[in-house]
Amino acid sequence: MKNFDTDHSLVPPGVDLLDLVNRYGAPIKITFLDNIKNQILKLKNTFNKAIENNNYKASFYTVNANKANYEYVGIAQAIKYGDGAECSSYYDLIITKMVIEKLNLKNNKYLICNGYKNKDYIKEIVKSKNDGWHIIPIIDCLEEYELYKKYNSEKNYSTPLEVGIRVHLSSQYIEEGSVITDDRFGVTEDEFEFIVKDLKENTNLTLSTIHFHQRGFEYEKDKYLINIQKSFTNFYVKAKQNFNSVKNFDIGGGTPLPESNDFDYDSWSDLTVKAIQEMCIKHKVAEPNIISENGKYNRKNSQINIYEVAKVKYTDKAYPWYIVDGSLLIAMPEYYALGEPMKIVPLNLLSNNPVKARLCGMTCDCDDVFYDKDKGYILLPEIKEDETLYIAIMGTGSYQDSMNGKGGVHHCLIPEERDLILWTDEFGDMQEYLQNEIQSIDDIVRLIHIK
Ligand SMILES: Cc1ncc(COP(=O)(O)O)c(C=O)c1O
Repeated sequence: MKNFDTDHSLVPPGVDLLDLVNRYGAPIKITFLDNIKNQILKLKNTFNKAIENNNYKASFYTVNANKANYEYVGIAQAIKYGDGAECSSYYDLIITKMVIEKLNLKNNKYLICNGYKNKDYIKEIVKSKNDGWHIIPIIDCLEEYELYKKYNSEKNYSTPLEVGIRVHLSSQYIEEGSVITDDRFGVTEDEFEFIVKDLKENTNLTLSTIHFHQRGFEYEKDKYLINIQKSFTNFYVKAKQNFNSVKNFDIGGGTPLPESNDFDYDSWSDLTVKAIQEMCIKHKVAEPNIISENGKYNRKNSQINIYEVAKVKYTDKAYPWYIVDGSLLIAMPEYYALGEPMKIVPLNLLSNNPVKARLCGMTCDCDDVFYDKDKGYILLPEIKEDETLYIAIMGTGSYQDSMNGKGGVHHCLIPEERDLILWTDEFGDMQEYLQNEIQSIDDIVRLIHIK
């Protein structure tokens, strides 16, 4: 009988986690750059196959949703193997341009700009276009549209700004007589009609892209198809019928990444390409490029955290507390805030007897705990005298470090883990680089401004 969950499928072949922990020590975060590359190439490959098999007459592009994780080496890797980046703010745009310039890839990559656009962000978008970047801001509201018109006509900018429109699709429900929608994003059909009409008079903006974002979701085929159909029929087709410049259908993020690890990407890409193709035939419009913006899909399985069980405490006789030398609350905030599933596995002592235990972090927070909520415990190896147990959180690469403020001041001033990067070099050898030692008192002193 298998006692413990020991799924290490995201650990690249040849990597020995215990050896790394023995050499560097716990707590440690490990980023596998190869996983980012492999995920992106897998997605490109599956869509290219679907495009070829269906004789689809346009291309697939994938850009990295930087918001999932801002670690430089990770976004550099994702941008290098993908087709560009999706930015969400003024700072994100500035930093992303720095990364792409460092990689010397300015001429080959797209910048898709989503997020709330303050004036700085809008001005930087317009300036970037005039500095030669291939940038497509996605309009989220009418005020934003008006500002592009204004700024792109200033300073005698000579070429039109290429823009996209995010469409509002969310399901609606009625409450006390009014219609409530469950997200704020995108323009409504009325606003869309207004922009399409108004754009005819405004030659300094060129509409190229219709965008909808499928929220991070447990993939539901029917819902996915309905959203694609709605956004394509109600928005893309109208836009294309009015402007020949319209050529991209951006399906946003939310690329499936179920916990079960058994998702059939070939069927999914085929379904997507076929659905768009059928609507093109029905409405007699040319097939668009398909753009996908990936955060979780690109990054979740590129990082793991490893902790040592520092102490076992028997406050509760039934289920001992296994206290790790870090904080689970800080390591995986998405699990606590949004219920994102997380996999925690023991790394050693696997031949010891299983113990019904509960894991907890070192903070003073009662919520800094983890166990199977249905069972009330998780199975972990018994720890005998002089033995040390290590546990790993598998898949902390997307949104955890964006939400926990990596490099910041954390709960109870528990210091941040060491930070190790692993990648395969051009000769096929695994390389490692310790990017950061465990967070120091000096780091924290600086952050809390002790003068
Ligand atoms: C517009 C947009 N694109 C892409 C993403 C990335 O989504 P995911 O992490 O599900 O790939 C998000 C996430 O919030 C988003 O808002």
